[in-house]
Amino acid sequence: MQSCAETRRQIRTAGLIARYDANVPRYTSYPTAAQFTRDIGPGEWAKWLGEVPAQDAVSIYVHIPFCRTLCWYCACNTRAVNRTQTIDTYVDLLVAEAGEVAARLGRRQAVRRLHLGGGTPNMLSPGTLGRLFHGLREAFDLRAVTEVAAELDPASLTKAWVDQAACEGLNRASLGVQDLSPRVQRAINRIEPFEIVDRAAGWLRDAGVASLNLDLMYGLPLQMQDDLLKTLSQVMTLRPERLSLFGYAHVPWLKPHQRLINLTDLPGPAERFAQSQAASAYLVDQGYEPIGLDHFARPGDDLAIAARAGRLHRNFQGYTVDDADTLIGLGASSISRSPQGYVQNHSQEVAWRAAVRAGELPVARGLEITADDRRRAEIIERLMCDFAVFLPGVDRRHGPAADRFVGALQRLQPMIEDGLVSYENGALAVTEQGRPFVRAICAAFDTSLAASTVRHGRLI
Ligand SMILES: C[S@@+](CC[C@H](N)C(=O)[O-])C[C@H]1O[C@@H](n2cnc3c(N)ncnc32)[C@H](O)[C@@H]1O
Ligand code: SF4
Repeated sequence: MQSCAETRRQIRTAGLIARYDANVPRYTSYPTAAQFTRDIGPGEWAKWLGEVPAQDAVSIYVHIPFCRTLCWYCACNTRAVNRTQTIDTYVDLLVAEAGEVAARLGRRQAVRRLHLGGGTPNMLSPGTLGRLFHGLREAFDLRAVTEVAAELDPASLTKAWVDQAACEGLNRASLGVQDLSPRVQRAINRIEPFEIVDRAAGWLRDAGVASLNLDLMYGLPLQMQDDLLKTLSQVMTLRPERLSLFGYAHVPWLKPHQRLINLTDLPGPAERFAQSQAASAYLVDQGYEPIGLDHFARPGDDLAIAARAGRLHRNFQGYTVDDADTLIGLGASSISRSPQGYVQNHSQEVAWRAAVRAGELPVARGLEITADDRRRAEIIERLMCDFAVFLPGVDRRHGPAADRFVGALQRLQPMIEDGLVSYENGALAVTEQGRPFVRAICAAFDTSLAASTVRHGRLI
């Protein structure tokens, strides 16, 4: 039987969820992509690229917007494709885009980290993958790359792909797992028995890929806490260095195919909360360290080491140790960042293809970062990464905020009273209980949110 203390805790949690569960950004950047406008385009990006210091190593993100089939929950920018020609011509254009970027940089810039994301990068045939790397090496200096990472779909992965990628330097891989229960897999249109994940992990380990991440999800249709815990216990045999535990973001206004998911099959906020707490407790018990909001890493992993040292960062791919000033995004919908601002490529593949064919940088929109944005970005990044920030330190680095954060602190007052966050002598610290609500705490510093008409996913 449940204890009185446990019942009281559940009632209190339900009250907090009712009060603070709102549509808030995931803060993979500040300002968020919702603030990008058409005022910033190819001209600004060309200028900013021209200002990258010659000695700076940059990071590169390459987006592959193709999948074998579409998972109904998917919020990524991708589509189901079965024609190799579509993929091959896309890769030709990626190489062309890399050449355009290199021309604006004015040199073969050194690259420190290279990330292939999607979609599903293993939709490229091994030969096409080799061609992509050849093109990237022509445009950039990849000799001192420390990290080559790829997001992979276990069901469509082949040993030949893994071997080719390993030849190109792949040393970090992320496999999508989500949930291994056949009932949940049917409800999300993603049939992927454990044996498939096990096989993929084996190929990667055999090829010498030292770091393996697994993506898991909670809050999926028909998913129960036991499904998630059973999935976790199964994947523990793969000894992943890292795990991501994402709450399903139901955003059908952005991703209409999510309407294929039956709303009545979705767990409610209290159940979602319980699932994430149970999964987190399980992983901590297995020796993983919780990293930020939704990652877990073994204590010796770079991410855990960076988190303990306060050197964790957040970018469009989530939590990272990457501290490069310039991130160059290639491919449809990719976002790039430099100290001056953000730019995003055309999300529609047709527009992206047309711009690259015309020899242009395929930028659709962006944002120039102001001094106040920089200050707030640091606060939000530290809160998302460290769950704490010292406001006078931010003032020292960026100059004092004009409003002294009076508005933000007023907005935080109810959360301070509810014990989610404490504020003393300039030190803001998210409490253990407040961690799941950290995005709402960050939102207090977000000056653009109130005026924005963009709808984000739910907090819990
Ligand atoms: C690019 S996919 C991973 C690689 C590969 N395409 C796959 O699915 O196996 C990125 C990850 O985003 C997560 N994801 C996708 N849609 C999501 C949503 N609506 N809410 C939360 N996480 C989501 C999933 O965990 C997925 O594994
Ligand atoms: S989750 Fe991965 S495989 Fe499924 S549709 Fe999204 S990107 Fe493609």
